[in-house]
Amino acid sequence: MRHEYQARAGRVLLLPLTLPDAQRMRELRNRSSQMFFHTEFITAEAQEEWYARYARTENDYMFSVLFSPSEQWVGAVSIYHVDKTQGRCEFGRLMIDRSAVTERGLGVDATLAACAFAFETLELSTVYLEVFADNMAAVRTYERAGFQTCQERLEKTGRTILYMEKSKSER
Ligand SMILES: CC(C)(COP(=O)(O)OP(=O)(O)OC[C@H]1O[C@@H](n2cnc3c(N)ncnc32)[C@H](O)[C@@H]1OP(=O)(O)O)[C@@H](O)C(=O)NCCC(=O)NCCS
Repeated sequence: MRHEYQARAGRVLLLPLTLPDAQRMRELRNRSSQMFFHTEFITAEAQEEWYARYARTENDYMFSVLFSPSEQWVGAVSIYHVDKTQGRCEFGRLMIDRSAVTERGLGVDATLAACAFAFETLELSTVYLEVFADNMAAVRTYERAGFQTCQERLEKTGRTILYMEKSKSER
């Protein structure tokens, strides 16, 4: 949905995702499609349609990840499926362009900033996510950001999906 929120943690600033950012995000997403549940190649037109749908979707907050202090665009992240009644939301669509900066660990900062947005701005109590167990960089990132694995699920493809959670009280 269109929003004007910002969040900061460590070396990153999160700003609302614009359409040009969404096209940069598409290129990153196409490069690492095997790490996501939908693996199809995304065209520029399909991404524009996706962005228009996203802008109309309530409770879906996409952010660009900017590397401070230069505010260079380095990736994207989102908080969605926000359920204020249950105090829960999903975290996902995290990607960092590792070729853009030599700094490592920006994924942790982006994850912490998105969680701060969920806990402090949206006043939620639990953030959850799903990730392929073989995506070591992502799993390590989420563990370092304080997520714990609650469940494992073996897919027909032979890949295992981890369900992870982070609670506000565990910050
Ligand atoms: C996940 C991602 C955002 C992390 O970006 P980053 O912060 O720049 O990643 P880093 O290179 O600093 O690596 C993060 C951690 O994973 C570890 N790691 C990276 N690749 C690894 C590998 N192949 N095996 C084991 N550990 C690995 C790093 O050592 C680091 O851990 P450390 O801080 O304890 O040393 C980035 O890899 C990415 O965009 N991946 C593609 C998209 C994706 O998979 N998104 C998540 C979908 S759920």
